[in-house]
Amino acid sequence: MNKFFITGSNGQLGRELSKQLDELGIDYAGYDVPELDITNYESSLQLIKQENPDIIINCAAMTNVDGCETNEEQAFLVNETGAENMAKIANELDIPVVQVSTDYVFEGENTNGRPYLESDEVNPQSVYGKSKLQGENKVKENSDKAYIVRTAWLYGDGHNFVKTMLKLSDNHDEVTVVDDQVGSPTSTVDLAKAIIDLSDTGAYGTYHATCEGVCSWADFAQEIFNKAGKQTKVVPVTSEQYEQIAGKTVAKRPHYSVLENANLEKLGINSFRNWEDSLTEYIDNLQEV
Ligand SMILES: NC(=O)c1ccc[n+]([C@@H]2O[C@H](COP(=O)([O-])OP(=O)(O)OC[C@H]3O[C@@H](n4cnc5c(N)ncnc54)[C@H](OP(=O)(O)O)[C@@H]3O)[C@@H](O)[C@H]2O)c1
Repeated sequence: MNKFFITGSNGQLGRELSKQLDELGIDYAGYDVPELDITNYESSLQLIKQENPDIIINCAAMTNVDGCETNEEQAFLVNETGAENMAKIANELDIPVVQVSTDYVFEGENTNGRPYLESDEVNPQSVYGKSKLQGENKVKENSDKAYIVRTAWLYGDGHNFVKTMLKLSDNHDEVTVVDDQVGSPTSTVDLAKAIIDLSDTGAYGTYHATCEGVCSWADFAQEIFNKAGKQTKVVPVTSEQYEQIAGKTVAKRPHYSVLENANLEKLGINSFRNWEDSLTEYIDNLQEV
């Protein structure tokens, strides 16, 4: 690929992609709101035509899972219509599009501990998951050169669970974290590399793209504290208990949303590390700053 166009370039994944492309000496243009609003087809088309890229990576999204429950219209506007616009523009310019999606397209029950494959039936339970699934569908309908890349529990340069936990540990001796939701924490470093590697293959389709290994949010929090040398104690609770403690209704999240990177594996480009190794690197880098 000669030139990438990145939407949502101020977000966690957008920043890491820009960094890696810089390091690789690959040309790219990155935009975010207000210069680029993916929900506006005409202005997006004009801007993207001007930049004349060879591929669009759609990292822009409404990612606040609980926020999507209370602002459903905006969630579908960004996550469905925005994605549809990017696919239509890519098709018009005859270039591929990468649509980044989520483990929350799955119901997360009754797999008996078997990780989800790309071919497994989807059944999102939250507005976020539903809007992202619609995004996937619209991208597939409108582009014949689409890569759908589902990731999970993402952290990088931006707001995320790791930073929230570290901040809480500054003035809390213990924190309450759910332990009945299991998944794979994923570093943007691993994900950006996977997207760049995939972008040149021409093997359009759906891909699961998460770090290897499995844990609950409570395990994840404990590992964050261990690696950062914090003494804060993790108090594990169920999702139900958490909702009572938080005193608010939160979006329904999958209990088990582990994804197997089966299609990346088939292509021979599954370079994701174990989640604990990627987390070590992330925390070490945070502590150096
Ligand atoms: N974060 C996770 O745990 C997670 C898990 C699974 C999948 N994913 C998916 O991975 C992708 C990247 O996630 P991320 O964590 O990097 O997200 P992020 O940090 O929230 O970044 C998304 C970026 O998109 C921007 N944006 C929102 N609406 C826009 C619009 N209409 N036009 C242009 N830009 C817009 C946001 O700006 P504002 O901040 O100003 O709104 C933000 O800068 C997303 O597709 C997300 O759904 C994320």
